[in-house]
Amino acid sequence: MDHFLYRDGQLYAEDVPVAEIAAAVGTPFYVYSTATLTRHFQLFDDALDGTDHLVCFAMKSLSNQAVIKVLADAGAGMDVVSGGEYYRAKAAGVSGDKIVFSGVGKTVDEMRMALEGGIRQFNVESEPEMVVLDRVAQSLGVVAPITVRVNPDVDAKTHAKIATGKSENKFGIPISRAREVYAMAAKMPGLKVIGIDVHIGSQLTDLAPFEAAYLKVAELTEQLRSDGHEITRLDLGGGLGIPYARSNEAPPLPSDYGALIKRTVGHLGCEIEIEPGRLISGNAGLLVSKVIYIKEGEDRQFMIIDGAMNDLIRPAMYDAYHDIDPIIESVPGAEPAKYDIVGPICESGDTFAKARVMTEVKADDLIAFRSAGAYGAVMASEYNSRPLIPEVLVNGDQFAVIRARPTYEEMIGRDTLPTWL
Ligand code: LLP
Repeated sequence: MDHFLYRDGQLYAEDVPVAEIAAAVGTPFYVYSTATLTRHFQLFDDALDGTDHLVCFAMKSLSNQAVIKVLADAGAGMDVVSGGEYYRAKAAGVSGDKIVFSGVGKTVDEMRMALEGGIRQFNVESEPEMVVLDRVAQSLGVVAPITVRVNPDVDAKTHAKIATGKSENKFGIPISRAREVYAMAAKMPGLKVIGIDVHIGSQLTDLAPFEAAYLKVAELTEQLRSDGHEITRLDLGGGLGIPYARSNEAPPLPSDYGALIKRTVGHLGCEIEIEPGRLISGNAGLLVSKVIYIKEGEDRQFMIIDGAMNDLIRPAMYDAYHDIDPIIESVPGAEPAKYDIVGPICESGDTFAKARVMTEVKADDLIAFRSAGAYGAVMASEYNSRPLIPEVLVNGDQFAVIRARPTYEEMIGRDTLPTWL
């Protein structure tokens, strides 16, 4: 459920007409709903009710400072994967003991930053990383709390580019070698092993792969305990999928997911962490764009809009589907039209949808891409020298620009000329 609904024939973001925001900030832009963000966080928090737990928002899905603050105020921890994300979390007021650091390529500088600023735990992904973290922690005279991310060799049954739990993926250490790696970690004075981490992929629409992975983690917990390790925390990753097409998708609910967690690992008495991104931020955001032209092709109609693949890369990159709706609700009985919806960028991959049947629109009409809150703005670029588009946050009947559209001057302002030019 989200808070982008039609009212009196036009699309609203909570209590604000989307058209009003478009008039104020220009198009294209992203708009996020505070109520949807907090509702989705709350669903996870409630799903784990009764267990000691922390829901750490995967900031990679949407990392605007205002969004982080909304979720942190609601009680979320943060899952970060770079020094930049760590910096963002701290700047939004998140305390270090609520930040977990994931990722296969943490650098010495990033480790140092997190150890100095405070960290809940590092999710370590390899032996070489362990060696480096041990050294960095010792050089600072501190002990780094760690989990080891295990790769359970489970097929997440999602798009290949976002599956992470198979042995061919770069993530984690093979679960078959886990006992050996934990034995090695236990001997390192700069590290304190506190638990196990697993994340098998993103946009999972079936609970079975989670179940397979969590059962393996439960078994490993018992083995590691019998080897003498204190396993007190399980980080179970993120990945629960969302419906991108309202017509035919019904992914499991956070409550089902919570019940699965309790069923598979609840008896171990560990503190549970999860790292959902998309399910919290995805349906909390729209990308709003304006139709520039309707162009007749040989055998099709192109809807050319002012948003492009640089603003939302998911369709080009993963063949992702997003529902696309007009801002003015279609009148019942109106004839639908069929469009290839494309952006202005000079490559054919700049296509959002092919043969999409929707209400007829004309130049200057506004359209909205649904479920664009996650992996939308954060994956944007300035390709074709199109400035990053603004982000807007709505809360009830108020809205605010939370990242302004850079001017052309600002866009080129980071380039510098060498002295010889
Ligand atoms: N934890 C770890 C270690 C992750 O790698 C990820 C996502 C998450 C949590 C959050 O997963 P989520 O709950 O959002 O599914 N750009 C792609 C998605 C990449 C996901 C990468 N890792 C997309 O647009 O579909």
